[in-house]
Amino acid sequence: MKKAIITFVLSLMPMLALAAGGGYPLDAIETDHSDKASLQRGAKQFMAYCAGCHATQFQRFERVADDIGVPHDLMKENLMSTDSKIGDLMFHNMDGKEAKVWFGATPPDLTMVTRVRGEAWLYTYLRTFYEDKKRPWGVNNKVFPDVGMPHVLMELQGVQIDSCGDMDPTTVDPLTGEKVCGLSVDPKRKGSMDPTHFDRAMYDMTNFLSYSAEPMKLERQSLGIYVLLFIVLLFIVTLLLKREYWKDVH
Ligand code: HEC
Repeated sequence: MKKAIITFVLSLMPMLALAAGGGYPLDAIETDHSDKASLQRGAKQFMAYCAGCHATQFQRFERVADDIGVPHDLMKENLMSTDSKIGDLMFHNMDGKEAKVWFGATPPDLTMVTRVRGEAWLYTYLRTFYEDKKRPWGVNNKVFPDVGMPHVLMELQGVQIDSCGDMDPTTVDPLTGEKVCGLSVDPKRKGSMDPTHFDRAMYDMTNFLSYSAEPMKLERQSLGIYVLLFIVLLFIVTLLLKREYWKDVH
């Protein structure tokens, strides 16, 4: 009986993953907050391509610089607008009301986006903008249908074409086992990065936003090890004490 329940729950898992992506399969990634080089690249891209519209206002520039290993003067020069100070929260200057007129929605704060949506969702979202002439910006998104955000990374990725239409994107050819349709960059409108390079850049961006949602993760993990070591030591001391006490009773 127990086995049957477990099998049933496991068989539902892929469906749950699909549900989270609005029906589109999500690409899982393993983020790594100890990879400072990746976090620095992610922060740089975020400031260059996203911070104009999105804030991460629960973070301060100073804390981010210290955590990802960027000296304050370099942070000021490369990753901050000229009117920001190192101790400032990472706000932006966009007027929410105007943004609503331009994009139909206000760009939300992204500090917690990987907690709200999940890392796999964000990683897939950033890589699944595709051409859709019916939409105001000429693009749509696979995991966020009818999104109000333009494809701000088009110069890097190029323009993707969707060959699936209404077909299920997970359909595979029974003979070759390969997917029959999907997103691919139009060879005539390539970006400055090839797909592998672009995926790596989006990994860095997701890694940075995942760090931003949980800046204490590394500290928490290393603290956890000390706590466990302490418990082991306490156990040994208690055991020795117990032996000492019971020696007289026997
Ligand atoms: C030109 C302004 C603009 C820029 C630049 C921009 N975005 Fe957006 N973004 C938006 C708008 C507007 C929305 C809201 C879309 C909607 O609700 O339909 C949005 C939504 C999002 C969402 C969905 C959030 C949610 O949970 O609903 C994510 C994630 C996101 N943007 C990430 C990024 C990243 C990462 C970058 C940088 C590569 C970026 N955006 C650059 C305007 C922008």
